[in-house]
Parts: sequence; C-alpha cells; structure tokens
Amino acid sequence: MSRDASDRHRQIPETRSGATVGAVDRAEWLETVRRRKVERFDTLHAPDYDEHWGAVPATHADYVARLVAATPPGGRVLDAACGTGRFFPQLIAAGLRVEGVDASAAMLANAARKHPDVPTRVAGLRTLAVDAPYDAVMCVDALENLPPEDWPAAIAALRAAARDGAPVYLTVERADADDIARLNGEAADAGLPVVDGEMADTDGGYHYYPPRTRVRDWLAEAGLDVVDEADGDDYWHLLCRAAPHSTPDPTTRRTPTATSRRRRRRPSIASLAVGTGAGMAGAVVLLLVAGAFGAAGVVVTAAVEALVVYVLYRWSPTP
Ligand SMILES: C[S@@+](CC[C@H](N)C(=O)[O-])C[C@H]1O[C@@H](n2cnc3c(N)ncnc32)[C@H](O)[C@@H]1O
Repeated sequence: MSRDASDRHRQIPETRSGATVGAVDRAEWLETVRRRKVERFDTLHAPDYDEHWGAVPATHADYVARLVAATPPGGRVLDAACGTGRFFPQLIAAGLRVEGVDASAAMLANAARKHPDVPTRVAGLRTLAVDAPYDAVMCVDALENLPPEDWPAAIAALRAAARDGAPVYLTVERADADDIARLNGEAADAGLPVVDGEMADTDGGYHYYPPRTRVRDWLAEAGLDVVDEADGDDYWHLLCRAAPHSTPDPTTRRTPTATSRRRRRRPSIASLAVGTGAGMAGAVVLLLVAGAFGAAGVVVTAAVEALVVYVLYRWSPTP
C-alpha cells in the first residue's frame, strides 16, 4: 500500500451514488474526498514526491517500453495524471512527444521544472478535453485515487483521448484483501460512507481497490481491449488497445433511422388490409379444400399457403 497509506479499512454492502451510509451522505463526502485529494497532492506529496516515489519500478518500466513499442515513431503520448513526470525521460529517450496533465498544479510544477519543454496542463481524469487524439495514452498509479463512481468516466476519457488502435497503458493498485477489508472496516467505524474496496480516513486519505472483474467490465464498456497484462510492483498493469469505434458499413448494413425504426414497429394500414384480406382468402380456400379432400387436403394446402407467404415476405421490397 502506497502514498496514501493513511487511506484505511471490513466488507460492507455496496451503496449507490448518493446513498447515505450512517450519518454521512456519500455524494457530499465524495466531493470532499475529490477536493482533499488534490489539496493533499499539492501540499503533502508534491514537495518531496520524487524523493520518496521518484524511482521507476521494473514492471512499470517494462510496460512503458511495451507502450513505446506499440506507438508510431515520433508519436504523441498523453501521460494523464503524470504527477512529477516520472516517465517523461523514458518516453523522450524513445523519441516520442509527451504531454502531461494532472489535477495537482504543484505536482505539474515539479514536472515542468525538470522538463520545461514538455507541455503540461491542469486537468482531471474525467475531463481530459483533448483537441486531437493521441498516438498513445497512459495513466499510471493514479486511478486508485478515484472512487468507483468516477472510474467509468475516467476510463472513457482515456479511451477518447486515444486515436483508434492506439495503445493505452493503465495500472490498477493491488493490496492484500485482508488489509483492504480491515481498513475498510476502520473507515466504516469512523462513520465514513465507504463501499467495498475503499479505504479512507478523516484527513482526506483515500484509495479504492476495485475487483478485477469490475475493471474488465469498465474497460470493455469504454472500448479498451486488453492485449497484455501482468502483476508487479504492487500494481496490475494493463496494456490495452483503443478499439475502433464501430461504424456501420453502408454497403452491407443500413443504419436504422428514427423513421425506419418507426416503420418496422408499426405496419401501414394498407399492408394490414392486404394481410387481412390474404389471410381470409386463405381460410376460405382451406374450408373448400376440407369439404372436397378432407384433412389431408387441408394440410397440403396450408403448407403451400405458408410457403407462398414466406416467399412473398422474403423477397418483397424493403421500404
Ligand atoms: C501517485 S501519483 C502518480 C503520478 C505519475 N503517474 C507517476 O506514476 O509518477 C498520482 C497522481 O494522480 C493525480 N491525480 C489524482 N487524482 C486525479 C484526478 N482525479 N485527475 C487527475 N489527476 C489526479 C495526482 O495529482 C498525482 O499527481
């Protein structure tokens, strides 16, 4: 467990956004958590972040190298929640053009001091607001700072920041399940409206450890295909590929319009009249055949009628 190790926690039932657990409203509490998170990085972590956390662990370096290998030479890379720019040297050395965003201005100031040529700007992970999609996107050791309510929007924003087919490297913090449960319980006992997987304290310390299945669902919903993954250095590393947005092929498939959908749901009066008339004519024919040839004749005639109806339906022009 890392930087916000004061972020501490027993298994309690999942709540929905806005639910009240104990005396504290969860939605209100989350607003405080988000605000305090930035304040803590600005004031508590930024001053000596590199001193304590500046080294790049082996698994992280390996996955950045995989991201580089999957990026076109000289490509643009977005490091989202770049912090003090810990990975800038590796990306620059590979000949890539890196840009950084982060919610903490103080963390970014450190990055800008070390790498004045790298463009940086303050932005939250849920609101990356990218002008042109990047050739690669990464978000390393940052998502644990987001509550479950914010993950889908953040992952969707990371996907949207990448061009179709681009590599996207994410890490998800892992911790011992018993530790998480214990710290979760302590937070609940302190009256905080935590849900499963969260550890939090009353000073604004907060981390969330989602189940892997949940992360996979969020990635799939956002259009990120996992191409490579590994556990290492306290994180689950995921190298993804931004799945192309599906656009219907006009030569093989029609895109349903509101009008065509309405047409499909509600047949016209004319087609209803023709259908009813044909059905009654068919019934009269069946009665006549039954009188003349008995049950066997009815069966044969009904089969012929069904075949005629199918052929007419199958080959009739689509409106
Ligand atoms: C532990 S640091 C990691 C920084 C960098 N990615 C690295 O690996 O060295 C986490 C970073 O996430 C940033 N952060 C936390 N929540 C954020 C959010 N909602 N939007 C953008 N940045 C956020 C923090 O300001 C901090 O710089």
